[in-house]
Amino acid sequence: MSMPVIGLSAAIGATAVFALLGGCSSREASAPAAAPATTAAASPGGPRADASILDLMLDPIASNAETLWNAVGTVSTTTGSKDLAPSTDAEWAAVRLKATGLMEAADLLVTPGRVVAHPDQKLKDPPGAGDLTPAQAQAAIEKDRAAFAGFAAALKAAGGAMVAAIDKRDVEAYSTAGGTLDEVCEACHTRYWYPNAPKPPGE
Ligand code: HEC
Repeated sequence: MSMPVIGLSAAIGATAVFALLGGCSSREASAPAAAPATTAAASPGGPRADASILDLMLDPIASNAETLWNAVGTVSTTTGSKDLAPSTDAEWAAVRLKATGLMEAADLLVTPGRVVAHPDQKLKDPPGAGDLTPAQAQAAIEKDRAAFAGFAAALKAAGGAMVAAIDKRDVEAYSTAGGTLDEVCEACHTRYWYPNAPKPPGE
């Protein structure tokens, strides 16, 4: 008895979705391009990049990474020091979500049309001497998108190593993967953010 009704509402739903899609693409076609001309164009109907790379850096990339790094380590207490690590299933599940979120964000970095910064967006912290501005970082990325994609892939792989350690409940492998993650952030930033920063002693 209820079957035709469900069929009908599904058909209406499908029509509504097509109408919405039609509306979006025609609006896009007539709107002026918001992104600089050098940005790799988004394909019609494909994913659209709204957040800037700086947005993604702050959240989820840095926020998830902080949670992952802070979940393991040694903390000083008034009575000595205490080793910290996820122990319950819920704690492991919570860090796993942060690691998979980080992996997905790595893919978002290379979404066509993604800009480093919105027109009036600045880095949160004042730039150091010789740091690249977001516009300079953008130009460096556009010059060699494959290189940038390589750094993003390394970020994804570091997240994957964290997930593997989490699935084995292996705290030592987790710490090692956390160290690799830090190096991956550093490597990409050294190329696109602070290429002129003094190297730490011994490097
Ligand atoms: C694929 C390259 C890449 C990777 C990997 C990467 N970043 Fe970034 N990050 C950038 C770029 C590009 C900028 C902007 C640099 C500029 O504008 O000069 C940036 C900027 C930032 C900022 C500054 C945001 C602001 O508004 O002040 C933070 C914080 C940050 N990244 C955190 C991280 C952390 C944490 C990791 C690792 C977990 C990471 N990033 C990994 C490319 C990367």
